Amino acid sequence: MKTRIVLFFICLSQALAWRHVESEEQLESALKNNKRALVAYIRPEDENSQLLEPEWLSAADSKPNLLSIDCSKLPKLCQKQGISSFPTIRLHQHDEHHIRYRGPRTAHSILGFLERVNRPPISHVTTKNMTAFQSIDDVVFIGHLDSKFDKESFTTLAKKYSDRFSFALSSATSSSPRVTCFNNLDTLSHSTGDLSTQSLNAFVKLCSTPLIAEMTRSNELDYYSSGKSIIHYFPSSSQDQESYIIAMRPLAKKYKEYLHFVITHSREFPEAIEMMGLGGLKPGNGRLSVQKGQDVFPYFDGGDLRNPEVVEGFLGDIIRGKVGAWGGQGRGGHDEL
Ligand SMILES: *[C@@H]1O[C@H](CO)[C@@H](O)[C@H](O)[C@H]1NC(C)=O
Repeated sequence: MKTRIVLFFICLSQALAWRHVESEEQLESALKNNKRALVAYIRPEDENSQLLEPEWLSAADSKPNLLSIDCSKLPKLCQKQGISSFPTIRLHQHDEHHIRYRGPRTAHSILGFLERVNRPPISHVTTKNMTAFQSIDDVVFIGHLDSKFDKESFTTLAKKYSDRFSFALSSATSSSPRVTCFNNLDTLSHSTGDLSTQSLNAFVKLCSTPLIAEMTRSNELDYYSSGKSIIHYFPSSSQDQESYIIAMRPLAKKYKEYLHFVITHSREFPEAIEMMGLGGLKPGNGRLSVQKGQDVFPYFDGGDLRNPEVVEGFLGDIIRGKVGAWGGQGRGGHDEL
């Protein structure tokens, strides 16, 4: 019995650590023996690589073709592959052509990507199998198009984004040419009849931006230029982030015309905690602050921020003027530390 328990823990600890490719030869033979292999190039000392580890291992549980390389141990190999940021995730294909994985570094998204690349960039659906296709991926686009020209521009769009989203052309006769999309994570759908290249690209962005997304240096301008108030959430861990997003989705949907719910990370914006008036709060829990024009309203009341009623109540207090804007120093009126 005791040995069984010990063995169990040995297996468990092996399962819960990176299993890196040991040498260039091993990578080459793995690539040769598989039509496709997904490879993560990581550096163990790098924070984003550490964040990937549990997600990668959980994805690797169901897909044995996931390989990883420790670029601190095999720097020459990584250099030869042209890897300059960590982690880089790449799908190597038989013809030596590779696709860079650009999605969220979660097991769910990585597995979705592997499913997607196994399908053609554009599928064909009929009235019979269209509904099934609508939920085949997190974000799905279906073209209801008649003219050869429209079909071609939709196919070009599909090829451009086929590593991130799923596309199909419908053969059902359509009254008006249009593209519809299904964001299955947020259960939102949209439709457009404007089929110019520029608006189709904007449509892809509209459909694929999650209701509650991470703010980054490259998308912050989109949020700030919209004129909507921004609700920043600084999660305490990736699990905390995940549960906050799930809990807050209905609220984000209800107020999407007026508010942006975003996840803000201090690792991306080191000065943000202070700027949002949250400097005095212990980092052990998630922290929230509302940015309304020039004003900032940090949440100090200590309620459970993964409860939408707490957040909605706080928003109501701001609107009714019950909570004043933060004065730019120290804590607000409340004190619970
Ligand atoms: C939908 O059905 C049609 C006709 O049977 C078939 O050709 C097509 O490949 C199917 N599409 C998908 C995505 O399964």
